Amino acid sequence: MDFSIKYTDKLATQRSDCLVVGAYQGGKLGDRGAQVDAACGGVISAVLKQGDLKGKLGESLMLHAPAGLKAKRVLLVGLGDTDKAMSPVDCQKLFTTIFQVVGKSPAKDLTVCLDSLQVEDKDEAWQLEQLGRQGEYSRYQYTHTKSDKERKTHWDNCDVLWYDKVSPAHKNALALGASTARGANAARELGNLPGNICTPTFLAEHAEALSKEFDSLSCSVLGEKKMATLGMGSLLSVGRGSAEESKLIVLEYKGAAKTQKPVVLVGKGITFDTGGISLKPGAAMDEMKYDMCGAATVLGTMRAIAEIAPKINVVAVVAAAENMPSDCATKPGDIVTSMSGKTIEILNTDAEGRLVLCDALTYAERFKPAAVVDVATLTGACIVALGKVATGLYANQQGLADELLAAGEDSLDRAWQMPLWKDYQSLLDSNFADVANIGGPHGGSITAACFLSRFAENYDWAHLDIAGTAWHSGANKGATGRPVPLLTRFILKRADA
Ligand code: BES
Ligand code: MN
Ligand code: ZN
Repeated sequence: MDFSIKYTDKLATQRSDCLVVGAYQGGKLGDRGAQVDAACGGVISAVLKQGDLKGKLGESLMLHAPAGLKAKRVLLVGLGDTDKAMSPVDCQKLFTTIFQVVGKSPAKDLTVCLDSLQVEDKDEAWQLEQLGRQGEYSRYQYTHTKSDKERKTHWDNCDVLWYDKVSPAHKNALALGASTARGANAARELGNLPGNICTPTFLAEHAEALSKEFDSLSCSVLGEKKMATLGMGSLLSVGRGSAEESKLIVLEYKGAAKTQKPVVLVGKGITFDTGGISLKPGAAMDEMKYDMCGAATVLGTMRAIAEIAPKINVVAVVAAAENMPSDCATKPGDIVTSMSGKTIEILNTDAEGRLVLCDALTYAERFKPAAVVDVATLTGACIVALGKVATGLYANQQGLADELLAAGEDSLDRAWQMPLWKDYQSLLDSNFADVANIGGPHGGSITAACFLSRFAENYDWAHLDIAGTAWHSGANKGATGRPVPLLTRFILKRADA
């Protein structure tokens, strides 16, 4: 998939399967729109005059083979009000519309020739990054387990005809958006694969393959035996009921001097969550194949980072296991010893994410991290609190929380900070162990974060609860690739600083 950008004013002779041109509300044309209109003898202004397109944001109209142009089609899109800046979300929607409509046509290459857009608080580089990102994101299609593997989207080349001199920053922004989306799409694919294919071993093989694809990445995988010698009794308790071996996957990206402390990303990789002996109800249980989306996010972010090649060190740690009931499975009331030495009373085997994460968080200490961010489809309670719009954010250091919130705003992959107050910690008291793995019916996302915080005391740490944001349910069922854009932006900002 190729994106390119150049300046030209020769719009009539531009060969393309589809030339994308914008019109403002009230049927007004900007400079670029007017140039194309003049070249095709006023076809566009005639269409606007007839009212076939009003110029509202989100509108689009495909015109076929307009005489005078070398383009086979013109896609006319609404740009909204001329004298009002659009919101960043509206800009994102505009680009999504373009790629959706072109995607449904047989066009093999497209040429985007829009007038300069006013987007609230966002510059040209931001717009180009979004364009590259939405373009690449729109091309993802799940086929792995379908007999019909025919592509539904045909274009694989997108040229941007810019209205002004093109700088390296413009080119970088476009490429960066595309890389981010390739990372997100890789995460979507892992998320969408069913539990009988995407096992802990499959995730480990995926990470190993990634490290072969990029020289800057190296991978190592710990099996159950090795984890037992490290004392990871909590992580190992989760996979005990499963025939699939649990894995701790470590993927390292080296972009800076060895001496520079890395950012460590930790992902929850429960490849299927039945709940274990605390079995989940049957309705929509298939969606628990997505319970490895934290791992998918972390691996997808590593792909994006390896492509972009920033000057920073990043380590991904994935805690992968399958949560099943069986005669060997962990039972409610069982007490395990975590790698940190803290004992845990497992009152509910369905609160398994925190059990694998706590040992991965302790393991992360060996990298002497600059910061640790874990990503997990951790609690249904987070969906109750924030819906499917914002990722839940917790942190033991406000500077880190602010960085992640800003990265979410920049990338439109937003998070919302939740309290990690001491007041909640006593809900995890146990009569028989150092800590219980559940905190009762109230504030479930918060008490889960409180549990994790006890294993993240030795470094700056943040936790992202992505239970609501990692996938869509219903007719659009599928992984979203969130929060790959947030994390990629966060890492790149750190590399710049
Ligand atoms: N993977 C689930 C969280 C989840 C539930 C994500 C629904 C997305 C949709 C997690 O392992 C879990 O089961 N959490 C329990 C915790 C409870 C037992 C304290 C939950 O949220 O119900
Ligand atoms: Mn669970
Ligand atoms: Zn789970």
